[in-house]
Amino acid sequence: MAKIMIDSVSKEFLTARKRTVALNETSLTIEDEEIVCVVGPSGCGKTTLLNLIAGFIRPSSGTIILDDREVAGPSAERAVVFQSDAVFPWLTVADNVAFGPRMQGMRGSRRAERVERYLDLVGLSDFAGTYPKELSGGMRKRVDLARAYTSGPDVLLLDEPFGALDLFTKENMWTALKRVAEAEPKTIVFVTHDIEEALFLGHRVVVMTPRPARVHSVVDVPFGADRALDLRAEPEFQALRMQIAHSLREVHDGAA
Ligand SMILES: Nc1ncnc2c1ncn2[C@@H]1O[C@H](COP(=O)(O)OP(=O)(O)O)[C@@H](O)[C@H]1O
Ligand SMILES: [Mg+2]
Repeated sequence: MAKIMIDSVSKEFLTARKRTVALNETSLTIEDEEIVCVVGPSGCGKTTLLNLIAGFIRPSSGTIILDDREVAGPSAERAVVFQSDAVFPWLTVADNVAFGPRMQGMRGSRRAERVERYLDLVGLSDFAGTYPKELSGGMRKRVDLARAYTSGPDVLLLDEPFGALDLFTKENMWTALKRVAEAEPKTIVFVTHDIEEALFLGHRVVVMTPRPARVHSVVDVPFGADRALDLRAEPEFQALRMQIAHSLREVHDGAA
């Protein structure tokens, strides 16, 4: 069943000096509980696409339908995780994760239960009382992830969430995200410029092109749910990586 239908969406930004077409008649259908990774060169409109789905900005033309309703603004049903940490430094890990449900008016016992569940799933149970400044970058990302889940969204929108992490930490985050996503499947749109990350996590990989700013190609990822980090060494994985890298190079050289 289609969860998100992006239908011929364009987005133009007008500033005093220029007009930027950030998305040009982009169409994409995302199934319920599907993990779609979006890759593309910097400036090709990935964040714009995510912001449109989040409802932070409106399309210049075209429509985005979520569950048969047009996206008209932000909603708790869509949680967003950015590259920069969104933790409140003055709150403990548990209070950070409890923040969304508290704002939604969720009762104390139910809230505590959810906080515990997601802290456990992201591997932070032992750090519930810790303050963010005492955590590593990867752990703060885990807080972000737990927080996104605790509000009970249908859709998770992730904008290069692990882009600032070192490779080892990033790999741990892939495993953490996989674990949470398996325990509680959501529709996930994951923006990254890391092809291996996209192939490791995604059911499909969408390659974007900047000129014109739209979907260049969509790759079906043939691997099942039981992906281990070693998968990257498999010839099939590497072949797909090369294929996507080739598409991106084409896009970059303007040959697409
Ligand atoms: N608020 C804005 N005002 C003007 N131009 C913008 C704005 N947001 C994005 N753009 C432009 O739109 C294009 C796509 O940006 P973005 O979606 O951030 O790309 P990406 O996330 O793929 O790097 C870029 O050329 C960027 O400069
Ligand atoms: Mg971006």
